[in-house]
Amino acid sequence: FDLARFNTLASPARARAYMSVASREELVEALQFAREHSLPILPLGGGSNIVLREDFPGLVVHIKMRGIELVHETQEHLWVRAQAGENWHEFVLYCLAMGWYGLENLSLIPGSVGAAPIQNIGAYGVELDSVFAELTALEVASRLAVTFDGDGCGFGYRDSVFKQRLKDQYIICDVTFKLNKTAHLRIDYPALAERLAAIPRDALTAEQVSAAVCAIRREKLPDPETIPNAGSFFKNPVVPANHFEALRSRYPDIVGYPQADGKVKLAAAWLIDRAGWKGVSEGNVAVHSQQALVLTNPGRAYGEELLFLAERIRASVRQTYDVELEIEPRIYP
Ligand code: EPU
Repeated sequence: FDLARFNTLASPARARAYMSVASREELVEALQFAREHSLPILPLGGGSNIVLREDFPGLVVHIKMRGIELVHETQEHLWVRAQAGENWHEFVLYCLAMGWYGLENLSLIPGSVGAAPIQNIGAYGVELDSVFAELTALEVASRLAVTFDGDGCGFGYRDSVFKQRLKDQYIICDVTFKLNKTAHLRIDYPALAERLAAIPRDALTAEQVSAAVCAIRREKLPDPETIPNAGSFFKNPVVPANHFEALRSRYPDIVGYPQADGKVKLAAAWLIDRAGWKGVSEGNVAVHSQQALVLTNPGRAYGEELLFLAERIRASVRQTYDVELEIEPRIYP
């Protein structure tokens, strides 16, 4: 089964088998099938955060459950449940249109609702965990449904228990968000604040914040339909304060954001950019010319070629700044 259309890096990888599931019952059947045939599973949402290194010797389970429902409300808040197969950005726009606020900064992030908690998607000053209520997932081994609250998900920066201790053990079926009836706008992220500077703060709407986020993303991030990519290829590395100070004395314009624990999160894009990689093209793959954190695959190569470029960038950043970069998307197989 050809996966080229199902991953935004457009790698031409093949899978042994493919099943599309539109309900929890169909998901259970797919998991049973995989078990009977001893096939590893690749749960597929929008395919926007995976690197297909080579062919996948297992079953791709395409998560297609749809539906959005209001499950509970109070005077201030709304609990909204979306099925895992909903497209993330369409869900954000639906909530905005309904007057359900809190997701506006997360506009235009590629991928599906079910994939969003796995890496705790975040952008422009807001992370998913701040609007998260709970999720339901099927345990692969038992095929039983389990509910996880925020604590159970172990959210961190681009991280959750589903990337760590429970990796490959659960498939997310639906996610419930706690949203607001009145907008509490967050425009502290520098690029966003700058874009909205002309609008008086008390006249600003959630729709305008969403539109501004979309505009910034369209400028900086390549559209996978035109240039295959998987968003940021690396996480922004967090270093001790003394390491940051040492770097800053050598590179006065280095970009870093102080964290609550005293450490500093460095802009990986800056490190990669200043190490000379921005816009570099090698064979089928390249470093995006508008955002050095994004690797692109214009030649539609297997993920292997991207990972080779990623390793060269990691080595260069390690040598120049003594900083380790961690790859963000999930690699298969
Ligand atoms: N910068 C450079 N060179 C570049 C690009 C950026 O020096 O080529 C500098 C910028 O000047 C800026 C800093 O790096 O000071 C940060 O850049 P940007 O605002 O573009 O954000 P980022 O830290 O590179 C992160 C997320 C993005 C998210 C944006 C906005 C990660 C790994 N990436 O990127 O998420 O959209 O912030 O919040 O945390 C993704 O995860 O796939 C993703 C796109």
